[in-house]
Amino acid sequence: MTTSSDGSTPPPGQPSLRTLPKAELHLHIEGTLEPELAFQLAERNGVVLPFADVDDLRARYDFSDLQSFLDLYYSCMTVLRSAQDFTDLAVAYFARAAADGVQHVEMFFDPQVHAANGVDAATVIAGLRAGFAVAEERWGISGGLIVCIVRDQPVASADALLDEIAPLAHDLIGIGLDSAEVGYPPLLFEDVFARAAGLGLRRVAHAGEEAPADYVWQALRLLEVERVDHGIRSIDDEDLLAHLATHRVPLTVCPLSNLRLRAVADLSMHPLRALVDAGVVVTVNSDDPSYFGGYIAANYEAVAEMGFDHRELAALAENSITASFADAARKAELVAAVREWVAAL
Ligand code: ADE
Ligand code: ZN
Repeated sequence: MTTSSDGSTPPPGQPSLRTLPKAELHLHIEGTLEPELAFQLAERNGVVLPFADVDDLRARYDFSDLQSFLDLYYSCMTVLRSAQDFTDLAVAYFARAAADGVQHVEMFFDPQVHAANGVDAATVIAGLRAGFAVAEERWGISGGLIVCIVRDQPVASADALLDEIAPLAHDLIGIGLDSAEVGYPPLLFEDVFARAAGLGLRRVAHAGEEAPADYVWQALRLLEVERVDHGIRSIDDEDLLAHLATHRVPLTVCPLSNLRLRAVADLSMHPLRALVDAGVVVTVNSDDPSYFGGYIAANYEAVAEMGFDHRELAALAENSITASFADAARKAELVAAVREWVAAL
């Protein structure tokens, strides 16, 4: 390959994938915590991290599966304590996202984990919303927040979270479901998601990342999600593929995450091409970019390495916009920007 893994060196005569306008629909803000900022915040808040230094922490970014990542990820999250911490984290992410051509972000966050560190949901939401205000003013980035249910915590804890956020629902765009997947099927959260819908929240869920296609069916039928996060195991079920394609249910796929968490052995084995060929609306996203070796342009670059040309990559970027929860006018503006990029090829 002549291209670099961060999307910064395009093939001769081709624009960098960083200039392709795109939306990021699968991004855990806590997964953008870089080791340097983690140590700065630890010092600011008097938290002792169980790592010697930045290099020691980075050396642990060698994961065998989702759980091995989550253990480190939740440990690093203990440094986030104040609204200002969340604003600083979000602005650092938005600066990188803007440099990668991101124009719209739908951002996940995990209040149940922050609650265990003594931070309430209102503080997290206020801090992240202040980050969005900076992003809009500085870089013209639109978007909003998706509150995630941590599925390996008790269902009663998810219910309590809904009680807590109900008065703040107007500050959120949706509800999601994340954390350890196998053994925590979507069906456990049917009532929680029905309640969230009653609060006016759009519904998405992680499903089919490590667990089988049946989890995707449950997310669709029981949680009534509008998008599926990851969803790569849908490739094992032809009826599910046909359903996703017919009903145009988007998947938010995260290639570098799948590689680093060993959901796929290598990128040549990734089902993304087969999903596209089956007619599924696929989007490309970064998941937890600090931990997985690259932000969103690097994920587009990984897809280029799977054999997608610039026109096909632009079609995936257009999917990210049409699959977003942006309003019709914003979608039209961003789709036009993608088409301009294609016209200049
Ligand atoms: N939380 C952060 N990243 C996640 C992932 N890839 N899967 C499930 N939960 C997560
Ligand atoms: Zn995720």
